[in-house]
Amino acid sequence: MRLWLLGLLSGALAAPARSGVTVQKQGLVVPEKYRHLREEVLEMFVDSYEPYRRNAFGHDEVRPVRQAPVDEFAGWGATVVDSMSTMLIMGLTDFFAEAVNHTTYMDFTVTQPRSTVSVFETTIRYVGGLLSAYELSDKKHPVLLRKAQNIADKLAYAFHQDNVIPYGHIYFMSDDPKRGTTNIAEAGSMSLEWELLSRYTKNSTYAKLAVGAVKHIANLEAPLPGLAPTRIDPVTGNFTNRYITWGGEADSYYEYLVKYARLFNADDPVFIQTWKKAVDSSIWHLLRPSITGMGAYLGEMDDQRNLKHLSSHLTCFHAGNWLLGGKMLRNQTMVELAGHLNDGCWTTYNSTATGIGPESFGFVSPDGGYAGGNMMNKVQVEFSKKHGFYITDGKYILRPEVLESNFYGWRVTGDTKYLDRAADAIKSFQTHLQLTEGRGYSDISDVNPTGKVVYGDKTESFWFAETLKYLYLTFDDPKHISLDDYVFNTEAHPLKAPPSLPSYG
Ligand SMILES: *[C@@H]1O[C@H](CO)[C@@H](O)[C@H](O)[C@H]1NC(C)=O
Ligand SMILES: *[C@@H]1O[C@H](CO)[C@@H](O)[C@H](O)[C@H]1NC(C)=O
Ligand SMILES: *[C@@H]1O[C@H](CO)[C@@H](O)[C@H](O)[C@H]1NC(C)=O
Ligand SMILES: *[C@@H]1O[C@H](CO)[C@@H](O)[C@H](O)[C@H]1NC(C)=O
Ligand SMILES: *[C@@H]1O[C@H](CO)[C@@H](O)[C@H](O)[C@H]1NC(C)=O
Repeated sequence: MRLWLLGLLSGALAAPARSGVTVQKQGLVVPEKYRHLREEVLEMFVDSYEPYRRNAFGHDEVRPVRQAPVDEFAGWGATVVDSMSTMLIMGLTDFFAEAVNHTTYMDFTVTQPRSTVSVFETTIRYVGGLLSAYELSDKKHPVLLRKAQNIADKLAYAFHQDNVIPYGHIYFMSDDPKRGTTNIAEAGSMSLEWELLSRYTKNSTYAKLAVGAVKHIANLEAPLPGLAPTRIDPVTGNFTNRYITWGGEADSYYEYLVKYARLFNADDPVFIQTWKKAVDSSIWHLLRPSITGMGAYLGEMDDQRNLKHLSSHLTCFHAGNWLLGGKMLRNQTMVELAGHLNDGCWTTYNSTATGIGPESFGFVSPDGGYAGGNMMNKVQVEFSKKHGFYITDGKYILRPEVLESNFYGWRVTGDTKYLDRAADAIKSFQTHLQLTEGRGYSDISDVNPTGKVVYGDKTESFWFAETLKYLYLTFDDPKHISLDDYVFNTEAHPLKAPPSLPSYG
């Protein structure tokens, strides 16, 4: 055989083994007729940020240069810091320059005397936001890294006396923890931010602490394989309940298992293996099709192992997460089931009067609708017959998860139904959330009102960091912030990933 032929052959044979897994559908382009929507989302960002900015920077009495990350996240610092990566992605360079300047002058380590700081929220919004902005601005602003480190140095006190599990909240003014149990989302989703911080600062302590907590949780015996319960005691290091959910209190623990494996191409198999087990157990024990056939949901398992047919807006990140992990594991079953989860969550949007989904809901599947002690009222029964789910808390506080998973749906499958859904959401937001006279966008108390919507008085910083970013990227060139180049932290701050491995797990 000629030598060149041998070379060609071995190349052809070796190629599949050598190429990394891909998450996005190859060669994806946004069809022409959807492209204007990207600009429309940008406009929504500006319309939301401008009124906030005028208030925050415009008057001396509300320019809290020393305000720190207190628990009230509608506060000043959170919005500026949390918005920076979105500004960079949207090319809003003036807003970004202003935000960097204010970050420079801000002391993030000072709070009101008796305020506590959420270690989790501060990690994902501030540390994650600063690190992402640092990377996306080509590391030209070292102050962003420095501030992230200042904050993490304070947060590190959450790991009280040699505890492996951090407390959820601490007092910045005394570096004392607020005693109590921690939920696994709080304890288990600092690994992306803190590992990255260790790499940039060359101080391995941050990674050791954050990754140590996740591994501890993953290695404890769980009620179902891979499915850790929601609460853990920092003192004993043991779980304190047996409640299982992909929703609040647990969500980003599961999310970060697979994202840590990808962002760092981790050698330790515990992250991807635990995630895989969690998904497998969830398929067997928690997954249910909607009685109407419009998608599927994941229920929750209580301490007595009863399946509660309850879910929430927060839980709806699961479809995007299963799409990411399913592609990493080259597992088509997970990808397909994620499609059903996406449909179920979208159904909670397209069934309401506003076209926006509620904060929490119950669902009915062929095995019924058991939801613990709570009986459905008449309205809920009628609603569920038609839509397969019913509203248990009707507010919408500008959360991202449904549109986040919808973004993954588009980038991974290339099905334009996800573009149609995002387009519908944009219209619903403009119609029902936008205030008059340029006062921005507001939360609402009921997504399915009989009359007019009732506004709250809050623009959460994740509206800027997550909801508008995922919507914008849905209509942007799929090569920009590709899911093959970046891993999003749980606040939608993209972090640059190395080339993917040929296989995970
Ligand atoms: C930078 O921030 C400081 C403190 O908030 C403010 O006094 C100054 O005017 C800002 N400079 C620019 C160029 O925005
Ligand atoms: C590394 O960070 C930890 C946590 O903030 C801190 O206690 C320690 O002093 C730092 N080490 C060095 C060498 O700076
Ligand atoms: C923690 O759990 C382990 C294993 O179940 C048990 O042996 C240990 O006594 C528990 N520790 C405390 C302090 O409850
Ligand atoms: C894909 O994932 C499902 C669900 O966890 C599992 O049952 C199945 O064995 C996996 N398939 C392969 C080929 O690994
Ligand atoms: C709502 O979305 C679901 C997909 O989850 C779809 O099956 C259903 O037909 C949609 N309903 C309407 C009214 O568009």
